[in-house]
Amino acid sequence: MSKAHFGLIGLGVMGENLVLNAERNGFSSVVYNRTFSKTEEFLNGRGAGKQIEGAKDLREFVEKLERPRRILVMIKAGSAIDSVIETISPYLESGDLLIDGGNSEFRDTERRVLELEKKSFGFIGMGISGGAKGAMEGPSMMPGGTKNSYDAIESLVCKMSAQVEDGPCVTYIGPGGSGHFVKTVHNGIEYGIEQILAEAYDLMKRAGGMKGEQMADVMARWNETEELSSYLVEITEACLRVKDPVDGEDLVEKIMDKAGQKGTGLWTVVSALELGAPVPTIYAALNARVMSSIKDQRLSAQSLIKSWDLKPFEMGTFEDGMAPLMDAVVLASIASYAQGMELLRIGSMQYGYNLQMPSIAQIWKGGCIIRSQLLGRIQHAFHNNPQLPNLLVAPWFADQVSLRLPGLTRIVAGGVERGIPLPCFSSTLDYINSYRTGRLPQNLVQAMRDCFGSHTYQRVDKEGIFHTEWLD
Ligand code: 6PG
Repeated sequence: MSKAHFGLIGLGVMGENLVLNAERNGFSSVVYNRTFSKTEEFLNGRGAGKQIEGAKDLREFVEKLERPRRILVMIKAGSAIDSVIETISPYLESGDLLIDGGNSEFRDTERRVLELEKKSFGFIGMGISGGAKGAMEGPSMMPGGTKNSYDAIESLVCKMSAQVEDGPCVTYIGPGGSGHFVKTVHNGIEYGIEQILAEAYDLMKRAGGMKGEQMADVMARWNETEELSSYLVEITEACLRVKDPVDGEDLVEKIMDKAGQKGTGLWTVVSALELGAPVPTIYAALNARVMSSIKDQRLSAQSLIKSWDLKPFEMGTFEDGMAPLMDAVVLASIASYAQGMELLRIGSMQYGYNLQMPSIAQIWKGGCIIRSQLLGRIQHAFHNNPQLPNLLVAPWFADQVSLRLPGLTRIVAGGVERGIPLPCFSSTLDYINSYRTGRLPQNLVQAMRDCFGSHTYQRVDKEGIFHTEWLD
């Protein structure tokens, strides 16, 4: 019997859909799951009648694969990956390749690439974005590791990934843990945009008195604009339209307001802090999830701390597409991308990843959760200037900022006056205002540091390092 082209370990929803995707694209496959009953269930169900066979143990799994073996591991990130590597390694041969397609911490991937390359196996850390549907129909894929390892999977991933007008949504990202680093930052941007849309919803509902259908109509309208056309706006519209079948009310209002997280947003912020990259909008989104999780405390504070009447305020009309609110959503979304790209640029220099910014924007244009028309503009901006320090200063984006800053300012001021928390909108406003201020007040911070700790300072009017005895 001929050997299979591709192996998959881990039959969760993502794993199942990815193997069905590979098989549909002409790659006969072998699957392995820790519990064999799950494998049987899959082979008799969604996998029936396809070029997919099962294996009871890892030895049989490896034996059924052609060489060099290409094995995608889709299991929970963390120590489970190390234990699969340890168990399968004795059966692998030189040139065989393991691909970790989960959301692993990029430093873990860095270590695994080094360890496995020493044994002459390849290891690819590949971010995969697009959720269950994307995995089946074509995700965005971010593979990192050695170029040789990537070459061995290129034909497979180019067929499996989403396709956009200028190619497949996959490219060689770079060495070591770069694929997972890029996926982590993708998720940080994802956190940002989700929170931005939640803030727009909160304002429309609490300050505008709007219902699900009306808010969904606004989302539909925004989704037709170049600036906001995106997958996340599209699914926000869908979420706002769904009714609870029991009473016909908006289902979203029945959902507990506590947001979970699996780690990638946190890792984005930790990396940014370590690298000295400013990501305030993304951090605000992460912190908003943390605040949401302390529901009991929020409820008791609500009864203790006085609030005041919420008077409606001018957020635009449906006819003008809620213009100022749209300004806020556009600028905060641009800020999330700008901060994520800036983090990638700084991380690339620090870790020697040599990331190609236009290519990263290109592979995010289809298949992934943050796909949007804006990414075409982002790709273009980095193509025109690969050394671009910040998206905000690329001509098209600078025009957007100038045009929309008054709207964002109005929305933040209106929200603040009414006591409505707008973490992403307000931190974006501070970010933009800081970024466009030539002289910030950190001269005084420097004076204080020098005053109590002799930390010294530089002057604007002459060269050198200075210290003053401030208290004498
Ligand atoms: C994707 C997503 C996905 C992620 C979920 C949940 O790109 O398909 O980023 O990989 O796991 O969105 O993330 P949180 O639970 O941290 O929100």
